[in-house]
Amino acid sequence: MSALDVEIAAYEQANPGSRSMHERASAVLPGGDSRNSIFWNPFPIYVTHAEGTKLTDVDGNTRTDFVNNMTTLIMGHRHPDVVRALHEQVDHGVSYPAPSPPVIRWGEILCERVPSVEKIRFVNSGTEATLNAIRAVRAYTGKTLIAKCEGAYHGNHDAIQISVTPPVDEAGEAENPEPVVMFPGINPGAADDIVIMPYNDSEAAERIIRSHAEDLAAVIVEPINGQCGMVPARTEFLQTLRDVTSELDIPLIFDEVISFRAASGGAQEWYGITPDMTCFGKVIGGGLPVGAFGGKEEIMSLWDPNHGADFVQHAGTFNGNPMTAAAGVATLELLTPEVYAELERKGDKLRQMIRDLIAELEVPMGVTGAASLFSLQFTTETVTDYRSFATNDKEMLQTVFTGLLNEGILMSNRCAGNVSAVHTDEDLKDFVSALRRVLVRAGYA
Ligand SMILES: Cc1ncc(COP(=O)(O)O)c(C=O)c1O
Repeated sequence: MSALDVEIAAYEQANPGSRSMHERASAVLPGGDSRNSIFWNPFPIYVTHAEGTKLTDVDGNTRTDFVNNMTTLIMGHRHPDVVRALHEQVDHGVSYPAPSPPVIRWGEILCERVPSVEKIRFVNSGTEATLNAIRAVRAYTGKTLIAKCEGAYHGNHDAIQISVTPPVDEAGEAENPEPVVMFPGINPGAADDIVIMPYNDSEAAERIIRSHAEDLAAVIVEPINGQCGMVPARTEFLQTLRDVTSELDIPLIFDEVISFRAASGGAQEWYGITPDMTCFGKVIGGGLPVGAFGGKEEIMSLWDPNHGADFVQHAGTFNGNPMTAAAGVATLELLTPEVYAELERKGDKLRQMIRDLIAELEVPMGVTGAASLFSLQFTTETVTDYRSFATNDKEMLQTVFTGLLNEGILMSNRCAGNVSAVHTDEDLKDFVSALRRVLVRAGYA
């Protein structure tokens, strides 16, 4: 029996309730759910409740949650201030066909914390945030082409579901990647409207941007690449993107859907580099569905219905809804600079403890991440971009992921994780002890 088979057998044994719920769910939901990003074989856990750092499933198993709904729950589950804000808003009504005060407060906080965001609009997902930011720059520049990085996920819409996890043998040369449409159903023409840059390769990115400058509506980049394992951009890479786009008058979009975890002003404050447009999601909604996009007044004013004949239409029944605004404001108000500093301290500490364990057990793996974000990498290569990320050993990844589930730890199915403000140093130690037991079972000792 392989190490993976051993872990799967233990998992099946401990989760009979999730298995039968998966069978029931699969009768009505393809794959048993509405999100492939949280699916895993042989079946996912079905969660009944959550509190602080803990998640409990239908079998009564309680695990320490290092996923926090894909980096969203930065204050943990059911933070009392967020719960109180939601209760208060429920008492006032859950959605209105008119704007409401909490949404104004929400916008004020974000515009104040992120000086590059002069105006903002709220939507319901990070996907809608990047969709609208791309529409904004296309409307503003009158051009169509977008430059994005290979291995970057910017949401689930046609314009950008290109070269997220392309098969390397179909993706061209590392310094000159080809656009690869990610799955059937995406408009194949979308690949004609995008150019792909290697992440963290300043020279190649600058060459690619310059050679398409005439047609580029924007360059979009994630300052900390989530898909490849929370891989931080080199400052010099982001600076090159900023310098070359400023020189050529091309809007630069930061996708801060995840990286807004880095500081109260987001990764743009953390790096000291200012984009023209920013996409938000996850933490800013306090756990409820959310997205937002904002930036320069001259671009965002296109959204104003009084702008004139060229205004951009923007509807959305739940955009800027008061429930998300209430949870978002409560969360953002809790997120003081001290909380960010403590999140980063815990992230640094956890990554160092994992590095020490890997060295001690001589395991062919590594850890990436920045601030409160981290990811296990099952490769001896230093992961800085998609091509190095693509060297991960997938069987080892699944073995460790399943092993950690068996040890009471939840990571994402790609073995990415994050700490929340309510994780304690004890939780971090428990994570490393669990990882040690899994690696020892897999034969590293
Ligand atoms: C960087 C980035 N952009 C956009 C999105 C899309 O956000 P959502 O899942 O809310 O649509 C995600 C989601 O994980 C993301 O990580």
